[in-house]
Amino acid sequence: MSLEKMEDLHLEGKYLELGTKEVNGILMTKLISDNWDQIWSFQAKPDDLLIASYPKAGTTWTQEIVDMIQQDGDELKCQRNTTYERHPFIEWEMPPPLKSGLELAKAMPSPRTLKTHLPIQLLPPSFWKENCKIIYVARNAKDCLVSYYHFYRMNKALPEPGTWEEYIEAYKAGKVLWGSWYDHVKGWWDRKNQHRILYLFYEDMKEDPKREIRKILKFLEKEVTEEVLDKIIYHTSFQVMKNNPMTNYTTLPTSVMDHSISPFMRKGMPGDWKNHFTVAQSEAFDKDYREKMAGSTLTFRTEI
Ligand code: A3P
Repeated sequence: MSLEKMEDLHLEGKYLELGTKEVNGILMTKLISDNWDQIWSFQAKPDDLLIASYPKAGTTWTQEIVDMIQQDGDELKCQRNTTYERHPFIEWEMPPPLKSGLELAKAMPSPRTLKTHLPIQLLPPSFWKENCKIIYVARNAKDCLVSYYHFYRMNKALPEPGTWEEYIEAYKAGKVLWGSWYDHVKGWWDRKNQHRILYLFYEDMKEDPKREIRKILKFLEKEVTEEVLDKIIYHTSFQVMKNNPMTNYTTLPTSVMDHSISPFMRKGMPGDWKNHFTVAQSEAFDKDYREKMAGSTLTFRTEI
């Protein structure tokens, strides 16, 4: 689609009507699938760092921690731009005048930190060829679902989520954008020892941010003082990031994200699923979960 056409649709408030289309069986926005050849042939560089996740797993949080580490705890340097501009989201398309993830990545000097939600089988092969470091963050299935449901409601680039009941079924069936949560988390887990992948959990980060940030420091071969570590924890706490326009996505027009429907920085805690699932829904979800995760060594906590 031409930029002019996208701009027209955006101005008419129709960015949201661009629809979805599968890429190799994985549901994507139509903009992503139409641009798939370019995304697949993306050229990673050896010093790229990639932050990968299933949507709503704590990507933005991880990105801010990484940037704070890279900026040696200087929060003013992290204010240089929005999360989206600092860490290009390689497969994402924005309505003009905002740039696509690919455009931003190509224009960015090395070393770059990039973001993706792609399931492992759809990651552009150059990331493997260049042996890039990858941080993957995972979050328990029910909290991811709840967060994703509210994100679907407020993000105008995504389709309507349907009712809560319908959304649960779509999620279980993997018929949501970026595909099945189950396949995503297992796919990255199964390959984590064959590549330079640090696999983190949202619940662990919440439980003990210092411990998890130390894992990231080690993975990035960086050292910071105890004082800087405390600064990183403070600057990347939920409340601080919620109030920070560079991390809370409020700089986007409401035609892209409408925070009055549900803020991007919504609750920021494990266990909110209990406020959404009925007992019957939870039991049915758990039964299906056990079947889908059977045989995997990957385990999650649903509360801390
Ligand atoms: P909730 O909707 O449950 O609040 P992503 O960045 O992958 O899209 O994930 C967004 C989710 O991470 C949202 O979850 C958001 O509130 C939460 N989040 C963002 N920053 C956080 C932080 N500093 N601490 C805890 N949770 C955070």
